[in-house]
Amino acid sequence: MGGKDFFHLPVLSREAIAGLAIRPGGHYLDVTVGGGGHSRLILEAVKDVIVTALDQDGDALAAAQKNLAEFDNRVEFILTNFSAYDFPHEAFDGIIADLGVSSYHLDAPERGFSFRHTADLDMRMDRRRALTAADIINSSDEKELADIFFHYGEERLSRRIARRIVEKRPFYTTTELANAIASWVPGKYRHGRIHPATRVFQGLRIAVNDELKSLETFLEKAPPSLIPGAHIAIISFHSLEDRLVKHGLRNSPLLKVLTKKPIIAQTDEIAQNQRSRSAKLRIAQRKED
Ligand SMILES: C[S@@+](CC[C@H](N)C(=O)[O-])C[C@H]1O[C@@H](n2cnc3c(N)ncnc32)[C@H](O)[C@@H]1O
Repeated sequence: MGGKDFFHLPVLSREAIAGLAIRPGGHYLDVTVGGGGHSRLILEAVKDVIVTALDQDGDALAAAQKNLAEFDNRVEFILTNFSAYDFPHEAFDGIIADLGVSSYHLDAPERGFSFRHTADLDMRMDRRRALTAADIINSSDEKELADIFFHYGEERLSRRIARRIVEKRPFYTTTELANAIASWVPGKYRHGRIHPATRVFQGLRIAVNDELKSLETFLEKAPPSLIPGAHIAIISFHSLEDRLVKHGLRNSPLLKVLTKKPIIAQTDEIAQNQRSRSAKLRIAQRKED
């Protein structure tokens, strides 16, 4: 972990833990254990709970293992993408997913997620995979790039930015790319609320990690893995994810949605943790047949 501690404040934790309605002696699945914040709260909520904890990032899993060491064999850790996990049938009393990247990813310069630091354009959560953000930037054709920026980043200037990238590439570092994008967009973009490269970076990250496909697979595979009556809680951070979660939960014949509208963070949490500003929590229950 480059000597840096994994730090991540769990988002919407009160609401997510209440939403899971944790049962004593229950078995819970945390598909995005990250630093272990939500898993810890599940383990502490009631007596004798056990947790299966997944993460596709080896650093995250190692950090969670360290942070949750006191729970000993009450936690099982598995290094896997949640879309590749072999969900056992009717095994869990609850499932939680807290999607996307962690604060650790954004704060660790060498992971290449953020243009606040100069680093290789990497953005892989699972570093066993080959494809990096630099590969996409330097090898995709103009239309593919524009589609990534438009569909995954919701970037209105996607075509202009894709054209300029193809003209000026190669780009190898985060700041090289971010500064170039800032120089190509109109002035009002440069002085807007967010940095002009924010949406392009979001799009690239989603493409590198194939995030929406993984989420779709998870939404199909998870419901049969819940014991009837058990809850699933999913926290998402942008509208593309939230749309998939909303429809995935609603369209599953096994589930009853418990949150008509998504639960969002209270002002006290937002004041403490900026990241919670865009978080949305949806909860559903496996129907009792
Ligand atoms: C927002 S963080 C989770 C933080 C955690 N809830 C906590 O309280 O510390 C998301 C984590 O999920 C992992 N992740 C994202 N997508 C994944 C996927 N498709 N499969 C497995 N892990 C994934 C990331 O590597 C990251 O560690």
